[in-house]
Amino acid sequence: MNLNTILQDATQNYWSTGHFNVSNMEQLRAIVSAAEELKTPIMIGLSEGERNFFGLKQAVEMVKVFEEEYSTPIFLNPDHSYSVESAKEAFDAGFNSVHIDLSKLSLEENIKGTKEVVDYVKSKNSDVSVEGELGYLRGKSEVQKEVIEIKEEDLTKPEEAAEFVEKTGIDRFSGAYGNIHGIAVNEPKIDIERIKEIRKILPGNVSLVLHGGSGISEEDMKKAIGAGIANIHVNTDIRVAYTDALRRSLEDNPEQKTPYKIFPPVIEAVQKVVLEKLRLFGSVNKI
Ligand code: 13P
Repeated sequence: MNLNTILQDATQNYWSTGHFNVSNMEQLRAIVSAAEELKTPIMIGLSEGERNFFGLKQAVEMVKVFEEEYSTPIFLNPDHSYSVESAKEAFDAGFNSVHIDLSKLSLEENIKGTKEVVDYVKSKNSDVSVEGELGYLRGKSEVQKEVIEIKEEDLTKPEEAAEFVEKTGIDRFSGAYGNIHGIAVNEPKIDIERIKEIRKILPGNVSLVLHGGSGISEEDMKKAIGAGIANIHVNTDIRVAYTDALRRSLEDNPEQKTPYKIFPPVIEAVQKVVLEKLRLFGSVNKI
């Protein structure tokens, strides 16, 4: 299955694919088995930090093994590659999706670097879907004990989104529509009208991505999908489920030293979160 074809189906039929970040095999197993249970394709993301910890080749090979074991299509994505080099390096290592995030640069520089990645990837494998990003996303994938205020100038302007997409040739567009990374004291308010405007101005074969999927209300999430979001990224909720369950497992069994006895409830806790999200995204029975 081709990721762009899946995303176009999601756009046309108002559901969203799930993208979940991992740092290790236990999280990967939990996410893939949830996707298998619901019969849906899944995207697995590794940020630069997660890639450094997991290992590029290790992630690629492990996903291959899971693909042999399960029937769900898995798309491995180098989430937020902050340089052309790191995006290319992940693609060269075998990632079958790419995310280049030069949103901290000027529009011109962002276009130049993103296009370089698109041209590189497409010249080697035109089936691989490439995501570019425009707009300023505040926060980080943690539980943050502060209020995060979004400024008007952070948000993606629809005309700039159109120019960015046209000049780069990306398949997936990720913008700032009131979303933040992580969970803050205040709940983010998603600018649904902005998503609609961006959806309207972009070509139909370019999919819209929503980052910062943790901490957004179910109501806003549903409205965002209704406005054209076809792919939602979740990391913090996975990290919270994982670490909380691990702490509980260790506290409940203080004498336990055997990892394969400590980790099953942790995997189950992550799986539960992923099942809830995928159901919310309408991502059930898609394969
Ligand atoms: P959250 O940590 O808010 O879920 O965001 C994750 C994300 O957007 C990863 O790309």
